[in-house]
Amino acid sequence: MRLNNLQTKKENINLSNKLDKERIPEHVAIIMDGNGRWATKKGLPRSFGHNKGVSVLKEIIKVSKNLDCKVLTVYAFSTENWTRPFKEVDFLINLFEKVLKKEISEIHQESIKIKFIGDLTPFPNSLKSIINSSEALTKNNKNFTLNICVNYGGRQEIIKAARKIAIKSSTGKIKPSDIDEQLFNSELLTHGIKDPELLIRTSGEKRISNFLLWQLAYSEIYITDVLWPDFTEIEFLKAIIDYQSRNRRFGGIESLSNESFEDSYYSSLSKND
Ligand code: IPE
Ligand code: IPE
Ligand code: MG
Repeated sequence: MRLNNLQTKKENINLSNKLDKERIPEHVAIIMDGNGRWATKKGLPRSFGHNKGVSVLKEIIKVSKNLDCKVLTVYAFSTENWTRPFKEVDFLINLFEKVLKKEISEIHQESIKIKFIGDLTPFPNSLKSIINSSEALTKNNKNFTLNICVNYGGRQEIIKAARKIAIKSSTGKIKPSDIDEQLFNSELLTHGIKDPELLIRTSGEKRISNFLLWQLAYSEIYITDVLWPDFTEIEFLKAIIDYQSRNRRFGGIESLSNESFEDSYYSSLSKND
């Protein structure tokens, strides 16, 4: 055990040295997946994986805050997760309420602003009320923002935005030609939040499962086979280091090493025309 701890510390220091502190992504989104499989592999009920997943989230919030990443957006419950057995859904809803009640004072002390993104309507009043009071309590906190996506679906979010825009247009508040990316963005549940630079998905699944469809347009995607309950600071650092090695072109090209060579080729083309 001691040897393990020592190795972990060494790896941590190694990775921290590789990290470019000047290029930490401001906003990281995470699909925290694999809780059920983690528990099943250990011969435990799936709910044990969800419980362990909560403690991993607490750790990753601390780590990202220390790295000076500003925003973490995590996927906790999708609009499709209602199709799971009633007992699992009920367990998750109770877990959200229990954890929020237990952690909210520490979240506030740490100057973390907490925000829930998704349709809260189907949740019990007791959960809705702790969500509302937590958001109100922490709304002026500046250090760090934690967005938790619950009953969230990217398609549903886009449909709702489209509906709101259609109403504004049909009542004459805006013209169809006013609709652009900025206006559309302002009607999304994430309005005011910068798009994530990095998306992490645990458990090896290579899909985005209806998460932030609009917002992830140009995010870098990092997929690890590690199941969420096994995710650690080291895994998070690996994701950030990998992100820092990416060449983000946004449809453009890398700056040209030999611009005059390119130029002379294009001008020779026009001469031949
Ligand atoms: C992610 O883990 C948590 C939620 C979706 C609530 P899963 O519960 O999806 O775990 P797996 O993917 O079945 O292992
Ligand atoms: C995505 O995981 C949703 C959350 C992590 C909350 P799922 O386990 O629901 O996604 P699929 O079924 O593998 O696509
Ligand atoms: Mg899953």
